[in-house]
Amino acid sequence: MSVPDEARERALWLRREITHHDYQYYVLAEPQIPDAEYDRLMRELQDLEARYPELVTPDSPTQRVGAEPLEGFAEVRHRVPMLSLENAFSDAEMLDFDRRVRERLGVARVAYHGEPKLDGLAVGLRYEAGALVQAATRGDGQRGEDVTANVRTIRALPLRLRAGDWPRVLEVRGEVYMPKAGFAALNARMRAEGRKTFANPRNAAAGSLRQLDPRITARRPLSLYCYGIGEVAGGELPATHSETMERFARWGLPVARERQRLDGIEAALDYHRRMLARRESLAYDMDGVVVKVDRYDQQRILGHVARAPRWAIAYKFPAEEEITRLLDVEWQVGRTGALTPVARLEPVFVGGAMVSNATLHNIEEIRRKDVRIGDWVYVRRAGEVIPEIVRPILERRVPGVRAVELPARCPVCGSRVVRPEGEVIARCTGGLYCPAQRKQALRHFASRRAMDIEGLGDKLVDQLVDAGLVKDPSDLYRLTREQLVGLERMGGKSADNLLAALERSRDVGLARFLYALGIREVGEATARALAAEFGTLEAVMEADEERLLQVPDVGPVVAGNVRAFFQEPHNREVIARLLDPAIGGIRLREGAPRPPPQPLKGRTFVLTGTLSRPREEIKARLQALGARVSSSVSRKTDYVVAGADPGSKLAKAESLGVAVLDEAGLQALLADATREFNQRENA
Ligand code: IVH
Repeated sequence: MSVPDEARERALWLRREITHHDYQYYVLAEPQIPDAEYDRLMRELQDLEARYPELVTPDSPTQRVGAEPLEGFAEVRHRVPMLSLENAFSDAEMLDFDRRVRERLGVARVAYHGEPKLDGLAVGLRYEAGALVQAATRGDGQRGEDVTANVRTIRALPLRLRAGDWPRVLEVRGEVYMPKAGFAALNARMRAEGRKTFANPRNAAAGSLRQLDPRITARRPLSLYCYGIGEVAGGELPATHSETMERFARWGLPVARERQRLDGIEAALDYHRRMLARRESLAYDMDGVVVKVDRYDQQRILGHVARAPRWAIAYKFPAEEEITRLLDVEWQVGRTGALTPVARLEPVFVGGAMVSNATLHNIEEIRRKDVRIGDWVYVRRAGEVIPEIVRPILERRVPGVRAVELPARCPVCGSRVVRPEGEVIARCTGGLYCPAQRKQALRHFASRRAMDIEGLGDKLVDQLVDAGLVKDPSDLYRLTREQLVGLERMGGKSADNLLAALERSRDVGLARFLYALGIREVGEATARALAAEFGTLEAVMEADEERLLQVPDVGPVVAGNVRAFFQEPHNREVIARLLDPAIGGIRLREGAPRPPPQPLKGRTFVLTGTLSRPREEIKARLQALGARVSSSVSRKTDYVVAGADPGSKLAKAESLGVAVLDEAGLQALLADATREFNQRENA
């Protein structure tokens, strides 16, 4: 079938248009059209090419989706070897490099060019007559692998150079890398699919580029930037590297925005410092900067040794990841009682500092990563953030490593540790007693909505605790005038005022007092509800979770917190001291309890068959909620609760049309009735 002229012209136009937008989007990061518009152009071109296969060109943007899988990678011989770089780790080493360069050149000052050193995979990209014909990995520097089909899928790379003043043969050298955001998204996708994640963007880039199926590579968020030249024939390049980089940009090749001409070594040192400061904020991982002699004639004079040029050097940043041994895991207790596992490490230099501790976040994280005491681990310290353990090196695990356990008791005060269901954070329950939580507990206790102790602000709490005068809230009530005036910035008048405020606070209602105890997630409203429900402190302290759940707005989490708090003997001791007339002297105003809720009042139940708990217990429970429990079924029966092997009662219930519940049905009914009852009560 011959191709109509309009189709041919349209395809040409679409290819140019899409290529232009690829450049705007992937190279300049300045998209000019919405994604949907871009997709429309792409689809139109795909349709045209499907109808007229002769229109498909190797440089068509449709060819980026990935060609058929390969059997293996062909070998490519580099006509100009792909060199590596010498590393420097300090200003002194850089000054040394500069001195050597100047001596060989016999000049007093050298113009350099600085560029970021991205951590990825070096590639050589061969353009002939402006068209990409081959892409190869570095390999051993002499021989690499042909990864053309994969590299073609990288959108940042032009399949055809722009403008026209390029040499007939131009081999561009660059680095394929994966931006941080793409890396995070890729790993999230891998995790969601239950597949192994990549340890870092470099591995992800390498793994993605060395896929035999280019369609997989096409779906990986790879990018590329160009930083040098290999073979050049049939044309001239400028006299300096920096000008070549300008040319590259004009030809549509991606070059680092952060590149810079540097006049002399001081400028290069300064460039390194500035780039290091920007490290975290850039979209890609950078492991240092590369400093190159800018003039090509000078580069030629300098030449190279073994595998690295004498005219360039990598000034590395401190590594952000290192490996070391996990010696132990200790648990730190925060001021809210949260337990955080802290890794004790064999000291290691990482991210520019000696690190001997790292966070492990929480027990779930430890289990997920399968970190054990004695393991070799990757430690990461990026910027100013707290060092963390990335993962253990399983290949190096030796017998005798120990699993990390959540302690049953608080390492600071010995109170019980609880971890509510569904939560990752474990906490110490000794809120009133635990030294780690002391300041926070006292601040809350004294606050206006709690005991309202005027004049007892945060600073004073700090002083009292630091001076060892106050360990728990009951100690506040034993402070003497002499002790107070002995404190910094505390005059006689302030001391008297504070003592008067403490005295006033001794008369307190139950709701306020409950709130002041600082039980987790018990705010003022819940404290009021508890006080109204139970009337006395004793009743609240003795209530089990089931009873607590009957209180309006108290769910399983709060009920668990209240129970855990009062079950902790340390807290009970502090409360006893607070109420002891000889110590705290708190005079609690208590009320009458609200009559126990009777959501089942007026309903009659009959129990039959074998139930999971003794029948007497279920009966007592139903009665406590106001129900009548009868032994025979009649028309007045509301529900028959039937267990295993029910007898004649079940048959009778069915004949009378009485509702029959199994145990799960009973539980649901109880929950519904309690909820409805509470709603009515609160209305
Ligand atoms: S120049 C002859 N410039 O670092 C000079 N390399 O450790 C050879 N790299 O193999 C390299 N960014 O993969 C140069 N701006 C940059 C670079 C860079 C990253 C990589 C490249 C090289 C390795 C050497």
